[in-house]
Amino acid sequence: MHYLSVEGNQKLKGTIAISGAKNSALPLLASTLLSKNNIMLSNVPDVADVKTLLKLLENLGSTTVQKDNIVSIDTTQVKSAFANYDIVRKMRASILTLGPLLSRFGHCEVSLPGGCAIGQRPIDLHLKALEQMGAEIEIKQGYVIAKAPNGLKGANIIFDKVTVTGSENIIMAASLAHGTTTLVNVAKEPEVVQLCEVLRDAGLQIEGIGTSTINIIGTDGALLDMQDITVIPDRIEAGTYLCAGAITNSGITITNIIPKHLESMTLKLKQMGFGIEKDADSITLLPAETIKACDLETSEYPGFPTDMQAQFMALCTQANGTSIIDERLFENRFMHVSELGRMGAIIKLKGHSAAVEGNTQLNAADVMATDLRASSALILAALVAKGTTRIHRIYHLDRGYENLEGKFSALGAKIERLEE
Ligand code: UD1
Repeated sequence: MHYLSVEGNQKLKGTIAISGAKNSALPLLASTLLSKNNIMLSNVPDVADVKTLLKLLENLGSTTVQKDNIVSIDTTQVKSAFANYDIVRKMRASILTLGPLLSRFGHCEVSLPGGCAIGQRPIDLHLKALEQMGAEIEIKQGYVIAKAPNGLKGANIIFDKVTVTGSENIIMAASLAHGTTTLVNVAKEPEVVQLCEVLRDAGLQIEGIGTSTINIIGTDGALLDMQDITVIPDRIEAGTYLCAGAITNSGITITNIIPKHLESMTLKLKQMGFGIEKDADSITLLPAETIKACDLETSEYPGFPTDMQAQFMALCTQANGTSIIDERLFENRFMHVSELGRMGAIIKLKGHSAAVEGNTQLNAADVMATDLRASSALILAALVAKGTTRIHRIYHLDRGYENLEGKFSALGAKIERLEE
C-alpha cells in the first residue's frame, strides 16, 4: 500500500490541465451497452473507477482497449447480463449498467453496490422507476434480479429526490424501451447533460436536455448508432486544484475546463476574497488580501456540489472568522472532520451543519483517507500545515484523481507517493 507524504507551508504557482470527468466517463462507458457499433471515447481520465467499469464491461463480453486517455469499446458481442459482486463492490457506479443491460436484454442480474462511507446511498429510486417501466425486480442474495421479458415500456416517472446516477440509469433504460418515457425531477448535472447529448447524437429522440423534465421516445429495442465521444472536463478535479491555490493563497491557472460548470465554486472563492479571471477554457485564481469566512450549503447542480464540500472545509480553516457548511445531500459526509481535527482544525458538528473556525495553524499528522473527496481535503490541509503530513489509504484518491502527484508537483508542491 502507498501513502502520500506532503510537505507543509507551501506556495503554489503555475498552470495545469484538468482531466476528463470521471462522473461523465462512467455513465458514457455504461451507455456503450446501447450501441450497435464500436465507439472511441477520448479525454477519459486514467483513474481506478474507469478501470473498474472497463473490467466489468469486459466481463460482460465487451472488447475494450485503453491507451492513455483514449478508450475503444465494442459491446456488440455482449451476451451476459450478469454484473458480479467482485467488481461491483469496488465501485458503486457499477449500478449504471443496470438500466442499459435491462433495456437491451430484457433481464439482468447486477450485484447491489452495498454500503458506502458517505452514507446509506440506496438505489430505491432506480428500482422504483424500472418497476414503473414494467420490470419485475427482486433482491436475492445481494443481487438485483430484474426481468422485463417483453422489453421495458415507456412510463411517466417522477423522481422523489434528484438523483444523478438514478437519472442516468433511467435515461439509458428508456432509450431502448417501447413508447415514450417522461422523467420529472431529473438531475441537471453537466454529466447527465452530456449523456443525453451523446444519446441524442446517436439518433435517440430526446427532449428537455438540461432541464428537470425529459421526454424520450424509446427505439423499441433497436440499438443506437453511437458516435465517438469526448468526455467533458472534470469540474470537481478543477475545483479541488482551485482550492489548493486558495488554501495556500497562491496564484494558479487551470486549463481544459468549462468555466460555467464551476460557477458555484468560483462565486464562493470570489466571496472569500480571491481574484478569479476566466477565459473560454481556463480559470486563473489570484491570491486574496484577506481570506474571508464563507457560508455554504451543498445542493444539486447548479448549486454548490457536495463533492467539493470537504475541500472548502479545509480552505475555511484558513479564513478570517467562522464559516458554516451545511451538507444537504448525504447524511454522513463529514468523515474528514475527525481527520482534519487530528491536524488541529477546530470544527464543530451539529446535525448536517459544520462550524469551521478560521485562522487555524494546522499541524502535520498521520491521517487516513476515508472517501474520494475527503482525501483531497487532507492534501489541501497538508499544504498549509506545519511539517510533513502522511496521508494513508490513498487508494480512495486514485479512484478519481488522475496523475495526482504529477499535477500537484507541477504547481510546485512537495508531494511524494511512498510505500507503507
Ligand atoms: C453522484 C456522483 C457523486 C456525487 C452525487 C451527488 C457519480 C458516479 N457519482 O452519486 O460523486 O456525490 O452524485 O452529486 O456520478 N438517493 C436515494 N435513493 C436512490 C438514489 C439516491 O435516496 O435511489 C439519495 C442519496 O442517498 C442522496 C441523494 O439521493 O442523499 C443524491 O444521491 P445521488 O445523486 O443518487 O448520488 P449518486 O448518483 O450515487
